[in-house]
Amino acid sequence: MAESWVNLAERIGVDLHLELPGPGGRRAALIRALREAVRSGRLAPGTRLPPYRSLAADLGVARNTVADAYAELVAEGWLTARQGSGTQVAERAQPLRHAERVPKKAPPRARGLRHDLRQGTPDASAFPRAAWSAAYRRALQAAPNEAFGPGDPAGRRELREALTEYLARARGVRTEPDRIVICSGFAHALRLLFGPSTVVGGGGVLRGPLAVEAYGLDFHRGLLAAAGVRTVPLPLDEHGARVAGLERERAVLLTPAHQFPTGGPLHPERRAAVIDWARARGAVVLEDDYDGEFRYDRRPVGALQGLDPERVIHIGSVSKSLSPALRLGWMVLPERYVGPVLAAKGEREGWASVLDQLALADFVVSGSYDRHVRRMRQHYRRRRDRLVAVLAAHAPHIEVTGIAAGLHAVLRLPSGTERSAVKAAAWQGVALDGLAAFRHPETEMPAPDGLVVGYATPSEHAYGAALEALCGVLPPG
Ligand SMILES: Cc1ncc(COP(=O)(O)O)c(C=O)c1O
Repeated sequence: MAESWVNLAERIGVDLHLELPGPGGRRAALIRALREAVRSGRLAPGTRLPPYRSLAADLGVARNTVADAYAELVAEGWLTARQGSGTQVAERAQPLRHAERVPKKAPPRARGLRHDLRQGTPDASAFPRAAWSAAYRRALQAAPNEAFGPGDPAGRRELREALTEYLARARGVRTEPDRIVICSGFAHALRLLFGPSTVVGGGGVLRGPLAVEAYGLDFHRGLLAAAGVRTVPLPLDEHGARVAGLERERAVLLTPAHQFPTGGPLHPERRAAVIDWARARGAVVLEDDYDGEFRYDRRPVGALQGLDPERVIHIGSVSKSLSPALRLGWMVLPERYVGPVLAAKGEREGWASVLDQLALADFVVSGSYDRHVRRMRQHYRRRRDRLVAVLAAHAPHIEVTGIAAGLHAVLRLPSGTERSAVKAAAWQGVALDGLAAFRHPETEMPAPDGLVVGYATPSEHAYGAALEALCGVLPPG
């Protein structure tokens, strides 16, 4: 094995002994050698590596070999690349021994999680504890005695009335209290609609095949698959789901206000087209309105349900606006589905606490919900703006998309770099997902590389460090 002493002292203040074999496999050998140098501590965190050209000359290898090796190690999290300060040993590059001990199948994020940038959770530190306690207290005091008996499976009337007014005003939903059924969130709504009726809490109200967006939550697809429902992926483009591809399905599940996770609204022509399809085929559209309140560029995109309340089942929950811990949601139903959904729920309320329902009703009627949503909209908009600004400064080659709404953004990555970026993030203790995690396994649409970054999850004091860590795992420009 040929040995090369690379005198880095002149440029970076350290002598480094790298062992490379003779010709052939030099890129892999250089990656191994640099990794070993970091792992053993010979290259300390923060150490600046020489420019490609100098190291290539010293080692007698092509410049691209060094560039590729650096890029791979940046992607793995050993090195970081910043515009203006070159390539450095990552500050948090921990000895690999830790990673090697993790069994192959264990989720990498399970250990050493330092920064949580997963989508899906609102800022838990911003839960309106005082306002919620006050609403709860008022609701308890005002509740009639019968409220402490078994609950109506439709949900408390107080809450259904409050939601009728709120959803009409804030989301353009056209309904009345008798068309609303309270549930414990979107996942529960899916179970009620599609679950086998032999399972407790499962409904069998609708049957598959169900068309879904080619990108969506794997958890929801899994839930449907477990209920025996076949899902058929609809490709996406810049206007949202290509609903012209709908055929013989009996229902379609969409996120019209804010496609999950790619981020755009469904184009108005497609909104009209999917309603036409549902009318023509006697089918139904399931509208997942998971974060419709959080729109930053203009007034919220109204609910699709407003176009035809007899063809759309509108489903919402407080999981994004308040907390997923509450397990409270609602289904706004066409008249013909109210009876079957209630039958699926059973004789009594078995899912959503009646007292929580009363508290939410008070929270909405007293204006606390509007105030909280308005405050959180500003909060998340600031978070989003900071994300965009940090990326513009430190990773200007990365395009940020899906930022007009919601609690997450999609960072578009150069082709072929997503997997290594996700791996690098896991090694650096940054929890996030690549777009591939949301892809329907049967879709044939092109697979863009990207990271889904939830900017709501970290608490306020941890957000700056999380963004810095994020920049450290992005592929270099
Ligand atoms: C795409 C999508 N739909 C729905 C929900 C809400 O799910 P649930 O009400 O079951 O918490 C979420 C998460 O909050 C989501 O990301």
